[in-house]
Amino acid sequence: MESIKKCDVNGKKVIVRVDFNVPIEDGKIVDDTRIVSSLKTINYLLEHGAKIILLSHLGRVKSKEDKEKYSLEIVAKHLSSLVNAPVYFVPQTRGDILEKTVENLEVGEIVLVENTRFEDYPKSLESSCDEALSKYWASLGDIYVFDAFGTSHRCHASTYGISKYLKSYAGFLVENEVTMLNKAIHQRKTMILGGSKVDDKIGVIDNLINTCDKILLGGAMCFTFLKAKGYNVGKNDITEDKIEYAKNLLQSHSNKIILPVDFMSENGVVELENISDNDVLCDIGPKTIARYKEAIFDSNLVLWNGPLGKYEDERFANGTKSLMTYLYNQSIVTILAGGDIVACSKKLGIKFTFVSTGGGATLEYLEGKRFKTLERLQG
Ligand code: 3PG
Repeated sequence: MESIKKCDVNGKKVIVRVDFNVPIEDGKIVDDTRIVSSLKTINYLLEHGAKIILLSHLGRVKSKEDKEKYSLEIVAKHLSSLVNAPVYFVPQTRGDILEKTVENLEVGEIVLVENTRFEDYPKSLESSCDEALSKYWASLGDIYVFDAFGTSHRCHASTYGISKYLKSYAGFLVENEVTMLNKAIHQRKTMILGGSKVDDKIGVIDNLINTCDKILLGGAMCFTFLKAKGYNVGKNDITEDKIEYAKNLLQSHSNKIILPVDFMSENGVVELENISDNDVLCDIGPKTIARYKEAIFDSNLVLWNGPLGKYEDERFANGTKSLMTYLYNQSIVTILAGGDIVACSKKLGIKFTFVSTGGGATLEYLEGKRFKTLERLQG
């Protein structure tokens, strides 16, 4: 992987693909870890005389309403409070304003282009890695720096697409992630898997199970597995077409996959056997917390993606909080992967060994999958 340190950026227009897909609630950035993690690369480029063109996605854009919801303008404002340079926000992904702003850009200035996924509606141009769009974005700069580790598993126009047309380098964030994850890839570990992107993540279990001694499930993820075992999961969603997959995994790895035995609902603790059709299960319960602590007690490495409950609501944060505090107090080496779990650790004020800015990307990387965009940075 070739670092930007190998490249003369002085006076050059450098396109930097960052992952500013940060959680936003009520018009406020809830956690800016991904933005802060990109600053090393941005500041390096500023100090070395570059003109910076930042590209990022935010959310998944499938409708007109999504375009209103997912503008990067708020991120541009936040970024300008973190860097000692002017940040110009361009409210379009292509066109005159963008081209003129880039043309007039001075050394030491930054442009943040509107959400690259605005090109996904009405046609999926960004996500399908449209050739013309890739070329157009590439034409805006002289050099491409990829620093969006969280998006490195996607082969989109603003990631892989641009790298086909410009000499491409790895930013510091990407270098750091890859170095850290390479150390963990073959180590035996315990995985804690929760969160809500079930469709995206359920498949990783199959591939990670060989290097995992145990996989502890929580969040939305566990309900498909409990359903596969024949339990009632109340009003919680399951992924119907993954029931068979879950059954097979449970059959072949019954000793490794560990499931909750109780939950917290609006009405208090509910034992697994007593879940009724109307229950909404929002967090793991006290018996499960004790069981999970026991399971991770002798782990050398824990990989954690996704909270175990609806932690944003204090009433349902206990499962995630208790295990996090336990891991920290026991000094168990932990990799936190994914926005929500990182936000949760920040809320608790707990600093872990390695906080990955990737969620799905980190899991897929640890599965040993090839990432075409990263391969373009091989120099
Ligand atoms: C993430 O949040 O995991 C990355 O930004 C990628 O987002 P995506 O899953 O919507 O592609």
